[in-house]
Amino acid sequence: MVTAETIADLRVQLRAWRGAGDRIVFVPTMGNLHAGHLKLVQAAREHGQRIVVSIFVNPMQFDRADDFANYPRTRQDDLHKLEDASVDLVFLPTEAEIYPRPMEQMTFVEVPGLGSELEGAERPGHFRGVTTVVLRLFHLVEPDVAVFGKKDYQQLMIIRRMVDDLGMSVGIVGIETEREASDLALSSRNSYLTDAQHKQAAGLYATLVHCRDWIIDHPGEIETAEVEAVKSLELAGFRPDYISVRRQNDLKKPGVNDTELVILAAAWLGKARLIDNIELSLNPNS
Ligand code: PAF
Repeated sequence: MVTAETIADLRVQLRAWRGAGDRIVFVPTMGNLHAGHLKLVQAAREHGQRIVVSIFVNPMQFDRADDFANYPRTRQDDLHKLEDASVDLVFLPTEAEIYPRPMEQMTFVEVPGLGSELEGAERPGHFRGVTTVVLRLFHLVEPDVAVFGKKDYQQLMIIRRMVDDLGMSVGIVGIETEREASDLALSSRNSYLTDAQHKQAAGLYATLVHCRDWIIDHPGEIETAEVEAVKSLELAGFRPDYISVRRQNDLKKPGVNDTELVILAAAWLGKARLIDNIELSLNPNS
C-alpha cells in the first residue's frame, strides 16, 4: 500500500496507474475507520483496479470548533485496516495541502436548496465544507468512480447533484448503511456514547422502522407520523433535531402522488449527535 501526503506524490502514482489503463476508485473518509468504511472499500473493488482512500478531517465542514477538535483521529490503526483491506493508495494530506490559503479565502462550491435544509439548516456551512473538499479531492484524484455511504443520505444526494450540475464524469456509488447487531448505524461519533447510551441508541433506528411501518399503513398521515416519531424519540431519552419524511429523488416534502420516500432523522444522545434514515415505498407493486 502506497501512502501519499502531498498532491505531487499522489499525482505521480496515479499517473502511472492510469497510464497502465487501471480504473481508479476513490473512497473519501475522515478516518477513524470502522466496518462501514471497510464495506465501502470492499464495494469499491467492483468498480476498478486501483482503490484510493483519503483520510482528511476537513475543518471546513465542522460547524462547531469543539466537534472538530474532538473528532477521533486514529491514523496508525486506520492504516493497518486499509492495508488489510488491500487498498492501493492512502492520501493523507495536511490542512495546508488542501487549503493553501486561509479557508475563508478559498473558492467554494455550494449546492443551493438541497444544501440548506435538514442537516444544512442544523449545521450552517456544513455542506459547503463537504462539497468544497469533495470537489477538490475529485480534482486531485480524478477518480472514475467514488463511493459514499447511504447513512449520510443528504450528503450523497448533494454530491450527486454537484457532479451533475458541474458536468463531472465521476460515477457516484451509494452503499447501504452498515449496522451493529442492535441495528445502530456504525458511526465514528458512536464513540462519544457511554455503554448505557450505546444500548439506548438503537432506539433511533427502531423509531424509524416504526415510523416507516405506520406510514405504510396510513399513507395520508405523514405529518402525524413525524410528530409521533419525535415524541417517541424524546420518550426514549433523545433530543431530536428533526425527523422528516422526504422524497427520495430530491429530498423535497412529498405530495400525495409521491411513493418513493425516505425518513431522515438526527437526534442527540448525551454528547453524540446521531443521524440515520430509512427508505420506503408506497408503491403497491414494489
Ligand atoms: O462522509 C465523510 O466522511 C465526509 O463528509 C467526507 C465525504 C469524507 C468529506 O469530508
